[in-house]
Amino acid sequence: MTCVAIVGSQWGDEGKGKLVDFLTERADIVARYQGGNNAGHTVKFQDKKFILHLIPSGILRNKVSVIGNGAVIDPAALFTEIEELKNLNIPVEKYLKISNTAHLVLPYHRVFDQLREKVRGDDKVGTTGRGIGPTYTDKITRSGIRMIDMSDPKYFKQRLEAILPEKNCLMKYYFQEDLQFSAQEICEEYLGYYQKLKSYLCDSSLLINDAIDQGRNVLFEGAQGTFLDVDHGTYPFVTSSNTLSGGICSGCGVGPMKITKVIGIAKAYTTRVGSGPFPTELLNDTGEFLRKEGAEFGATTGRPRRCGWFDAVLVRQAVRLNGITSLAITKLDVLDKFESIKIATAYQSPDGKIHSELPPLHNEELTPIYEEHEGWQCPTQNITEYDKLPPALISYLKRISELVHAPISLISVGARREETIVPNPNLIWV
Ligand code: GDP
Ligand code: IMO
Ligand code: MG
Repeated sequence: MTCVAIVGSQWGDEGKGKLVDFLTERADIVARYQGGNNAGHTVKFQDKKFILHLIPSGILRNKVSVIGNGAVIDPAALFTEIEELKNLNIPVEKYLKISNTAHLVLPYHRVFDQLREKVRGDDKVGTTGRGIGPTYTDKITRSGIRMIDMSDPKYFKQRLEAILPEKNCLMKYYFQEDLQFSAQEICEEYLGYYQKLKSYLCDSSLLINDAIDQGRNVLFEGAQGTFLDVDHGTYPFVTSSNTLSGGICSGCGVGPMKITKVIGIAKAYTTRVGSGPFPTELLNDTGEFLRKEGAEFGATTGRPRRCGWFDAVLVRQAVRLNGITSLAITKLDVLDKFESIKIATAYQSPDGKIHSELPPLHNEELTPIYEEHEGWQCPTQNITEYDKLPPALISYLKRISELVHAPISLISVGARREETIVPNPNLIWV
């Protein structure tokens, strides 16, 4: 039995979907433990492309796919995703399981997400506008509503009636908007969703722990990335959940000793969507070249991703924060044409101070300290064996591994499932 956690080691979009899909071949269950449809996980094989937002990527391989209690669910968005998969003849009804205690994204969450961003103006977080932050806010302030709460229509309506006066007051007096939310209307809409979703509901902790006890292989599919974690990320420019491997325990109801491997996914360079610090960002032709070569546009919102060199300071921190046991390095093929490639090994602040960790207060411009590596300048996408990789690429990987204190278990040289090299399978499955 192996329980493998897949986590993003940067600011999201590292290629988690691709690698979860790749590893699902040997898994029995794939589970999401946090986030919602702010995520966009791309999977490609043969000539097919899928973007999953809420449903675990394991569904594409007909494996039990669980949305855990720590995730937040927008039923309308979930339906669209279910329908899209059904149209592709994927038997969603058979494999999708949804925690009955996962919280609901309600219409006012989406509206508040967008209005708060508008009020923040230039200081906006750059959220995906999917209502994720307000949903987690309500969960923590005990004003949330869970999937199971819809099973009792009277209780569901009572909850809404208790919650809505505060929301409507904010709408009218703080945001000065005419829109008011009605418990009756939300009930009608959401009870319709509930009827269609109730057959998917389960106690996801029980399901996952039973599978573990039976010796099955479980994959936990992280969403977002380490530096979007609400506790350990570049606060306040973060998402509203615990994206780290630690989030699995609360987000799926699984004890920490059950997680056997933690694989950190990192791009061979760095990207970020939305606002916030990004020390190695390249606001020049090189950044533009990375965006073009890597097709760096958000899978959820289509926004251009900010691009920069690989930041070993960040990924080393991610190794520590998640207990990463090995790394998957993706998108190496995007660097194929570079004559030389840089890696940040530390930062310097304007007063000359050297930082070997990203400081928690982002009030000064940090200049990365780079080391330069020779590029390999040849196509890598069709290479399927480690030994056939160009020597300069191997030495780039070895240096990353040395700098971040983690071995490399997976190498990705293309978006497709087939474009994956596994130098060390023992680091993945027991
Ligand atoms: P996720 O959110 O971590 O699942 O990543 P996204 O799907 O948002 O973004 C990763 C993008 O890179 C997607 O378009 C993938 O198809 C693509 N991708 C993943 N791995 C590779 C790779 O090794 N090479 C190239 N060129 N593209 C990749
Ligand atoms: P995957 O799982 C990259 C970013 C948003 C914004 C911040 C907060 O595909 O890697 P939110 O809507 O969550 O309140 O936005 O987090 N963000 C992501 N960036 N990949 C993601 O998911 C993201 N999910 C949220 O751009 O900066
Ligand atoms: Mg993504």
